[in-house]
Order: sequence, then C-alpha cells, then structure tokens
Amino acid sequence: MLIHKQPLERLVVAIFEAVGCRVDEARCVAEHLVEANLVGHDSHGVIRIPPYIAWVREGKLFANREPKIALATDSIALVDGQLGFGQVMARHVTRLAIEMAGRHGIAAVALANSGHVGRVGAWAAQAAAAGFVSLCFVNTSGGGILVAPTGGFDRRLSANPIAIAVPVRGGPPLLVDISTCAIAEGKIRVAFNKGHNVPAGAIIDAEGRPTTDPRVFYADPPGAILPFGGHKGYGLGVMVEMLAGALTGGGCSKLGVPRLEQAMLSVLLDPRKFQAEDVFATEVRRYIEFVKSSRTVAPGGEILMPGEPEERSRAARTKNGIELDEKTWSQIVATADSVGLPADKVQELIGA
Ligand SMILES: NC(=O)c1ccc[n+]([C@@H]2O[C@H](COP(=O)([O-])OP(=O)(O)OC[C@H]3O[C@@H](n4cnc5c(N)ncnc54)[C@H](O)[C@@H]3O)[C@@H](O)[C@H]2O)c1
Repeated sequence: MLIHKQPLERLVVAIFEAVGCRVDEARCVAEHLVEANLVGHDSHGVIRIPPYIAWVREGKLFANREPKIALATDSIALVDGQLGFGQVMARHVTRLAIEMAGRHGIAAVALANSGHVGRVGAWAAQAAAAGFVSLCFVNTSGGGILVAPTGGFDRRLSANPIAIAVPVRGGPPLLVDISTCAIAEGKIRVAFNKGHNVPAGAIIDAEGRPTTDPRVFYADPPGAILPFGGHKGYGLGVMVEMLAGALTGGGCSKLGVPRLEQAMLSVLLDPRKFQAEDVFATEVRRYIEFVKSSRTVAPGGEILMPGEPEERSRAARTKNGIELDEKTWSQIVATADSVGLPADKVQELIGA
C-alpha cells in the first residue's frame, strides 16, 4: 500500500477523533506518527494506531488530558502527563523547555506519567529548530520492560531511547535518536508483521538463547531484547532509567505494570549563552565538513551525519509516498472499522 502524507494524516486524524480526541489532539498525534513514517522510522509511525486505540478502550490512555505542572522554578519543571497522549505531552514540555531555556540559558523539564511519546528525535528536533541543543531521555516505569541486562536474560530495562540534537545553521540539525537496546521493539513488530527475521544478536528467547525469529519474542513466555554494544548500551540504558525514571518521579522499570507509562527528561542548552552565535555555528559546520572529508570504505561511498538518513527519507517519501506493508495496513483498516469508519469511509478519506 503506497500512500502520501496528506491522505494518511487525514485518515489518522479521523481515527483519533472517532475515539474521542479533540481535533487539535488528533492532529498532533497524526502529524507525529506520519512524520515518523516519513523520516523512515516505520516502527514509530502509523503501526502504533491499533495499540493506541486499544489502550484508550482499555482505560490505559486517555483522550484530551492536559499536562499538569507539578513544580516549576526558573529552569526546572516537573510535568504530570496525566496518562494523556504522549505526543501532546512531549510537544507541550518541549515548548515549555524552549521558553525556560530562552530566558535562563538552560532548562531541565521532567515529564512523568505520560502516554507513549513516540519517536523521541521529534522532540529533540523541535528544540533544535528553535536554536537549542537538546538531550532527551525516555523510559517506561515498566509497561514497556523489554531488555535483559548484560550477563542476564530476564527483562529488567525498557528500550530507554536517547535523542540528542544540535542545531546547524541553514540546515536540519545533527540528530542522534537511538534506543539503548540492539533493536527497537517496534522494529521487531514490523519484522513480525512482514514475516521477516530480525538481525542476529538483537534478541534472545525466554531461556536466553540467541534467535532471529521475532515470533519467539512475542511467545509465552516471551523473549527479551539485548542492549546494543554489550555493556556500553547496557550502561547507558541503566542511566536512562536513572534520568527518565528515578529523577522525573515516573519510576524505573519494574514488573507487573499493567500499562505503558512513559517519562522523559529533556535538557535544553542555549548555545548562544556559551559561545558567540557565529563561533558555535561555524565550528559545527567546520566539524561536519571535516568528518565528511574522511576517505570512505566503499569506493565512491559517502559519509552521513546523524540525522541525515532521516532527512533523505523525508525527501523521498514526501515525493514518492509511504509504503505500508499489507498486514500493517489491514490492521489500521480494521481499527478504523472498529471506531466507526468502515472501509468505504477509509477509501473516501484517503481519496482512493
Ligand atoms: N518512545 C519510546 O519508548 C521509544 C523506544 C525505543 C525507540 N524509540 C524510537 O525508535 C526509533 C528508532 O530507534 P533505533 O534504536 O532503532 O534507531 P536506529 O538504529 O534506526 O538509529 C537511528 C539513528 O542513527 C542514525 N543513523 C543511521 N544510519 C546512519 C548512518 N549511516 N550514518 C550516520 N547516522 C546514521 C540516524 O540518523 C538516527 O540518529 C527512534 O526514533 C527512537 O526514538 C522510541
């Protein structure tokens, strides 16, 4: 199924409105999910519609919740996401952090008790677009416990993504946006839906044996994801639990949490308070050119900066459309039907 950005967004807005979201909330969620597909992260795109709708139905995620400021100083804020849509909460706390860092040069905003915040890089990029360096750390308090510690095979950590963005004058930001595990859970779901294997070294079965079969990961008892890069990814994952879990009040991963609650710590720095604007921007540019001047392993190869693959995907998919596999599309159509948008209405919305 090949579909362009606007018709896909129209459909997603209609699905979330049908389940009770105000139109601004439905738009916020739709823009975020479709953007994740556009930049190539299908694992955090519209494949998330069926679980989000299921969570609303099960009373695990709530439409139209407002973020609640639990505490605010000049440069620190604690925000309660009230189990509302994570996209709405994360966009709100990023705006708040931009305002605070604009006044004081630095801001640390902690969001706890939120729905799934999706592609974390979107929030770091939002801050970079306003001129700030941004570091985001995200965990779940346990509803998303997936990852085994180095040397063990029981689930003890969440996927614990980190996104860091640095503004680049006249272009998209440098953006590192990675989970601290060997593969994002959404990518196992995509492989499962497509009937593909996952790369070796990413998952283990319930007894700790290495496997590439995504069905083993979703079996009963389930498998686990390994940290990326052995003890290094494991160490970063533990620190994300500390920053996004212990520090925000959202809590570190634990067993027996019935729903996916996410927490995010965002730290914003205003580079203009550290260096003259020109000095920073020139050094960032110089360094990008220096890195790209390395000889390439493949003859005629190219060196990309972090964030560039996403920008290339955005350009290509904006022009050519987003390819959704049959299983994902049929799950979205079934979910639409379940909220009162039958197949002919879906066709009308996507203009097919
Ligand atoms: N909300 C959550 O709980 C949650 C959990 C896990 C992951 N995620 C999201 O899942 C997405 C995917 O995570 P992932 O761990 O699979 O990331 P990934 O392995 O796809 O890596 C993506 C990062 O690597 C960079 N990159 C890729 N190829 C590159 C190259 N050749 N040269 C330079 N840089 C390159 C990209 O620009 C990007 O910064 C992210 O958007 C993340 O935020 C969210």
